[in-house]
Amino acid sequence: MGSTSRLSFTLFLFFGFSFITCTNCIEYLKLALVQKNNPLSSPAQLLSSDTHRVSTLFSALHGRRGSLKSPLVSGASTGSGQYFADLRIGTPPQSLLLVADTGSDLVWVKCSACRNCSVHRLGSKFLVRHSRTFSPHHCYDSLCRLVPHPSHTQTRTCNHTKIHSPCLYSYSYVDGSTTSGLFSKETTTFISSSGRVTKIESFSFGCGYRVSGPSVTGASFNGAQGVLGLGRGTISFSSQLGRVFGNRFSYCLLDYTISPPPNSYLTIGTFQNDAVSRKLFSYTPLVINPLSPLFYYIAVEGLFVEGEKLPISPSVWAVDENGNGGTVVDSGTTLTFLAERAHRQVLAAFQRRVRLPQVEGVDLGFDLCVNVSGAGKVKLPTLSFSLAGKSVFSPPARNYFIEAVEGVKCLAIQAVKEGSGFSLIGNLMQQGYLFEFDRDRSRLGFTRHGCALR
Ligand SMILES: *[C@@H]1O[C@H](CO)[C@@H](O)[C@H](O)[C@H]1NC(C)=O
Ligand SMILES: *[C@@H]1O[C@H](CO)[C@@H](O)[C@H](O)[C@H]1NC(C)=O
Ligand SMILES: *[C@@H]1O[C@H](CO)[C@@H](O)[C@H](O)[C@H]1NC(C)=O
Repeated sequence: MGSTSRLSFTLFLFFGFSFITCTNCIEYLKLALVQKNNPLSSPAQLLSSDTHRVSTLFSALHGRRGSLKSPLVSGASTGSGQYFADLRIGTPPQSLLLVADTGSDLVWVKCSACRNCSVHRLGSKFLVRHSRTFSPHHCYDSLCRLVPHPSHTQTRTCNHTKIHSPCLYSYSYVDGSTTSGLFSKETTTFISSSGRVTKIESFSFGCGYRVSGPSVTGASFNGAQGVLGLGRGTISFSSQLGRVFGNRFSYCLLDYTISPPPNSYLTIGTFQNDAVSRKLFSYTPLVINPLSPLFYYIAVEGLFVEGEKLPISPSVWAVDENGNGGTVVDSGTTLTFLAERAHRQVLAAFQRRVRLPQVEGVDLGFDLCVNVSGAGKVKLPTLSFSLAGKSVFSPPARNYFIEAVEGVKCLAIQAVKEGSGFSLIGNLMQQGYLFEFDRDRSRLGFTRHGCALR
């Protein structure tokens, strides 16, 4: 793979993009994140869609290897228990709900070209002809080389003197789902933290006229109108807006089982001063896997259950020469996945230390479930991750035990086959923490005392 991403990188340096202009720039941008709980999604379905997503993400890594000819495969939008952001796009603005996804780069929305659309369609698709500011990128535009094309001859046959030669894009998913249409630019509107209206012009996104398949239309997509890619690629939402507001973003994912769910936020730019951050945050370096430059990797060094260090060889956490292994922080997957050898140790340690009756004979799909119904105050063993940069992540038990059926809690950590996957910290594990992806300094900050700050 490499070739694709290296090409993008070269282009980036070569043309020195500055394709966003910003009127009344504010210090940072704050978007509400909505957790839409899919009522149809039982823990068993959650498990199955998350497992599917993890394999999709992993194939995305391997789908790119080798040639520029095969279209990029994006891992976005499978999985459940997702967080959604409201993007206002067009003039006048149309509001669309998008899956916030750190595991992909392209921002795309479902588009419709109807001329005199019924108002009922507002919010279900982006109605291109109801906007004065929509325009597709030209196929000759350097940005057009950053998206996969439905036909690989397109850039070669692009006639740069012809005005109406739009940039076509096509994203495929492993299960055959696709989104394709015009790679375009639009004005997006945000309400800043101080309540001021801020407009960003020339925001690049995929206008998906053709969207099909279970990953992007099925129950796990949960009625969303597209994907807000937050990955490390040049065209992601965080990369584009980072050039205006500062190259870092943060979010706080709050417990969505609370009813009504509290507001979570996605912030682009810096919202607190460095002196405050230094006191509040623990930091671990963001690692780059050259074979998978889109994802946010961190380096796990060890695991502890009730303070006991588990005997896991450091090689279990490493990224090998084929790009396998490593640990990805992902907002679009709910559960956490660990390399088999680490998972085996975690499971054994929990089985040894849990003081509640283990539920057997009921197949819930999880490896360890305990009966908490008669237990009063439930005490579950603690889990912590020691990370590179001498930081320790010690989430509360509700971040790794999920109520599978009433009165039964299950360990929400699954095994990933080594050599065909990576470990992944899902959004349940991240709950209640403020995470800051500081891309300039290539580090991930986290704090349990940050969600109330904003
Ligand atoms: C467009 O919509 C308006 C209001 O919904 C309606 O009055 C008008 O007849 C429609 N025009 C066409 C060409 O369909
Ligand atoms: C490119 O487009 C221009 C203007 O439409 C046309 O005159 C020219 O013949 C086209 N060139 C090719 C190679 O198609
Ligand atoms: C959990 O324990 C209670 C008694 O404390 C029992 O009635 C119930 O059937 C158990 N549930 C499961 C799923 O084993």
